[in-house]
Amino acid sequence: MTYEVFATPQDAAKQLAAEVAELIRSRAAAAQGAVLGLATGATPLPFYAELIRLHKEEGLSFANVTSFNLDEYSGLSNDHPESYWYFMHQNLFNHIDIAPENVNLPCGTCAPEEVDAQCQAYEDKIAACGGLDLQILGIGRTGHIGFNEPGSDDTTLTRLVHLDELTIKDAAPSFGGAAGVPKTAITMGVATIMAAKQVRLMAWSSSKASIVKKAIEGPVTIDVAASYLQNHSDAKYYLDAPAAAEL
Ligand code: PGA
Repeated sequence: MTYEVFATPQDAAKQLAAEVAELIRSRAAAAQGAVLGLATGATPLPFYAELIRLHKEEGLSFANVTSFNLDEYSGLSNDHPESYWYFMHQNLFNHIDIAPENVNLPCGTCAPEEVDAQCQAYEDKIAACGGLDLQILGIGRTGHIGFNEPGSDDTTLTRLVHLDELTIKDAAPSFGGAAGVPKTAITMGVATIMAAKQVRLMAWSSSKASIVKKAIEGPVTIDVAASYLQNHSDAKYYLDAPAAAEL
């Protein structure tokens, strides 16, 4: 696992987007697809903005891309402004040429008795596509990747999880207070993420400095899901200087 520190999130996002563009283009040149794992939250916004710019200004096509998002809140329909389906369409998919049938997110609204089968179907679909080529991640202040809160070990697969109190607190402003935040979500597991051929995690600002230090320099522990990335053969953190301040 490696990390690189950039002057600004935009600088980091630009470099990561160039890397992803190269993956997509090299696969297209070989008439192959690229399978991307995508993330939501404030962190990847400059990265998605750069992918959109590459599409609009530099002809980057996403016609050969299949995407799988990390997670989705329980109970939010696709048209709910806080759903991750809505977020991804607003901030990326509506602005590029990815085929709608190649876009995959966990289903937040399926009936409780269908959740396990839906989660297994999500894992099966990732496998049927040949696995994730590159997984994009942010990191929560609990150390979560996806919604793998403390207590998620490296055998976990896509499943229903309960959100940590800190995660709910951090999401509260978007939901008009903590009471409005869904208490559960469907997330890829740590094992799902670890199976990606490449993992790229972005983190910005001093609010992430202490968890970034724990994830990179602390022990590999079930208490910090991102720490498992220390065991990945091709994982890299893209940091701005404030997020890297405690390293
Ligand atoms: P953020 O969330 O990008 O909004 O900081 C990151 C995360 O919780 O994974």
